[in-house]
Amino acid sequence: MVETTVAQPVTEKPKGTLTLGKPVSFTSKSSVSADLRDREIHIESRNFSIFYGDNEAVKGMSVNIPKGLVTAIIGPSGCGKSTFLRAVNRMNDLIPHCYARGELVFDSQNIYASNIDVVQLRQRIGMVFQKPNPFPKSIFDNVAYGPRLQGVRDKQRLRKIVEGSLKKAALWDEVKDRLTQNALGLSGGQQQRMCLARALAVDPEILLMDEPTSALDPRATARIEELIGELRGRYTIIIVTHNMQQAARVSDLTAFMYEGVLIEFGETKKLFTNPREKRTEDYITGRFG
Ligand SMILES: Nc1ncnc2c1ncn2[C@@H]1O[C@H](COP(=O)(O)OP(=O)(O)OP(=O)(O)O)[C@@H](O)[C@H]1O
Ligand SMILES: [Mg+2]
Repeated sequence: MVETTVAQPVTEKPKGTLTLGKPVSFTSKSSVSADLRDREIHIESRNFSIFYGDNEAVKGMSVNIPKGLVTAIIGPSGCGKSTFLRAVNRMNDLIPHCYARGELVFDSQNIYASNIDVVQLRQRIGMVFQKPNPFPKSIFDNVAYGPRLQGVRDKQRLRKIVEGSLKKAALWDEVKDRLTQNALGLSGGQQQRMCLARALAVDPEILLMDEPTSALDPRATARIEELIGELRGRYTIIIVTHNMQQAARVSDLTAFMYEGVLIEFGETKKLFTNPREKRTEDYITGRFG
């Protein structure tokens, strides 16, 4: 039998579904300039840890993710980037023996509190994975999947949502005449944009992207990076990447993790040109990882 995940919220939050909360000011000791310091925080982790059994893969992470900006998470393989990212929409729940400690706050509520509706949470916080994962269905059905789950039945409305989402993902022109064809027939880069459209179709507030371009060629990668630029502002984006240039190109803020610990967090341009920590410098200059 698969053991279910045990979440251990430290603070009990009021019961009920997720509600819009008060903005939290940017209080982390990070190196951020004044315009960032006053930004509304969308996700705040407070001494947040994630365990796989006895292994503490993310260790007491405290970080403020500002709203409407792009935050990159970098660090060597195995340092806990995906584990942290998956925690933000409780994807780790699916992994046996995985549990969290501390707080991860979204809209004034701990994401790991027992009363959180995980289905609703994942509609508000969408995810795009490293490998495109289209369902073996038509392009239309892939993108309409989430809205249908939400109860949208009206054909006209579904068509509008599908078209709008594919346009946001810059795929509409390429697929508008083949919406009924199987999504598995798309190229890798098209599949990834379709997965992005599928995530956008439920109108999320936050987009999590785990190495979204690592399986793509340079042209498709550039397309996704452009898209991230276009979606910036409208969505809060957290992207995990191994590609330093990509982090530098697309993100406003960068978090550097090492062995489960957040070593440094700050404005991307500062972190890449003038890191505070020696380990950050060693990593971004390619001395390890
Ligand atoms: N499902 C799992 N069960 C047990 N341990 C896991 C699981 N997933 C990850 N881990 C462990 O947690 C640690 C962090 O893994 P994670 O996948 O978060 O790293 P990462 O930074 O995303 O690495 P990569 O850059 O290679 O994707 C590693 O030690 C890994 O072995
Ligand atoms: Mg990973």
